[in-house]
Amino acid sequence: MAHRKSNSDAALIAGWFFPSIELIGGVATGAIIFVGGSLVLNEQLSVFTLLTFILYIDEFFFPIRMLAQRYNQFQAVMAAGTKIFTLLDTPIDIKDDPDAVELPTIQGHVKFTNVYFRYNQEEENFILKNINLEVPAGQTVAFVGHTGAGKSSIVKLISRFYDLTDGSLTIDGYEVNKVTQNSLRRQMGIVLQETHLFSGDVMENIRYGRLNATDEEVIEAAKAVGAHDFIMELPDGYATVVGERGVKLSGGQRQRVAIARTLALQPDLLLMDEPFNSLDATTRERLQDTILALRRELNMTTVIVTHALDEAAVLGSKILCLGDPPNCTPVIIENPAAEKPDYRTRPAYLDMRNELRQRMGLDA
Ligand SMILES: Nc1ncnc2c1ncn2[C@@H]1O[C@H](COP(=O)(O)OP(=O)(O)OP(=O)(O)O)[C@@H](O)[C@H]1O
Ligand SMILES: [Mg+2]
Repeated sequence: MAHRKSNSDAALIAGWFFPSIELIGGVATGAIIFVGGSLVLNEQLSVFTLLTFILYIDEFFFPIRMLAQRYNQFQAVMAAGTKIFTLLDTPIDIKDDPDAVELPTIQGHVKFTNVYFRYNQEEENFILKNINLEVPAGQTVAFVGHTGAGKSSIVKLISRFYDLTDGSLTIDGYEVNKVTQNSLRRQMGIVLQETHLFSGDVMENIRYGRLNATDEEVIEAAKAVGAHDFIMELPDGYATVVGERGVKLSGGQRQRVAIARTLALQPDLLLMDEPFNSLDATTRERLQDTILALRRELNMTTVIVTHALDEAAVLGSKILCLGDPPNCTPVIIENPAAEKPDYRTRPAYLDMRNELRQRMGLDA
């Protein structure tokens, strides 16, 4: 908003300034012709002197015009420069501990012990309170809870975009804030709630998950999430440029490209924050099965945030129901029969879904 105002102010000033300079130049030339002309007529001045003078007057105003233009450019560049330096100077909140160690290749055993978290130390209430949760390597945990309950916040704690306020969060016994961020994030695949694609083509966007993935591996990942068919229908297939300067993909298409990117990584720890929310029911179920199959094949620990209780019941061998602030009492439900391929048709699944609905204050 401020940017728009200063831009329109600048345009207004430029709009006055340049014509004024031109006008003064014009008036000056006119005055010289008028005065000089009458002197010539009275034979007090030769025509050549007058012409030379007029040429000089033009020479005189040319640098002033140039100076004004350059000054305008200079101001624009300075404004852009200030913006760039403000961004570069933004303090980094999360720093590697001076004694941080490299996190060795992980199995994916995640453990929360008495975790408390709030974004702002000045805030009175915690967003997450007393979270105790253990996810053995290779298991899937689902987080459910109302909007604002703190589901995305937990995902950001595991990926260490924020630090805990109190308690302990370990992966394979290593405190997440005692290992280098690079070695931590390299081993996890993250699908965030807001999916971002980069400028570039579809192939690059998926390969971004693992830079040394071959074209075949990228296509395989796209097929796994059912994105291959729509990608082939794009104007240039996998070479179609997406993002700001390219083809605009729909929310669900973007989401599938983002999931394919994460699967290409074949991570040991998969974090997904509402990854399926813009997908239709059929695609959603197919993707759930894909995640289950991959989870078994790669033995990756999976953390999935979802508003869909049936999804939590299908995927999560543990389900963490987050309470609403200020009490936030979390409840962990064991779901031993989860992750079976034919699970959706079993009575246990319906029981679980109903239990979740009751806990969330919905009629069963
Ligand atoms: N960067 C932030 N700074 C301060 N407060 C934040 C920040 N991000 C989220 N919050 C607050 O933390 C609380 C939990 O947010 P969070 O995003 O974890 O909720 P959520 O359970 O993921 O909700 P949703 O289902 O809508 O995605 C909210 O009250 C939110 O306003
Ligand atoms: Mg969220």
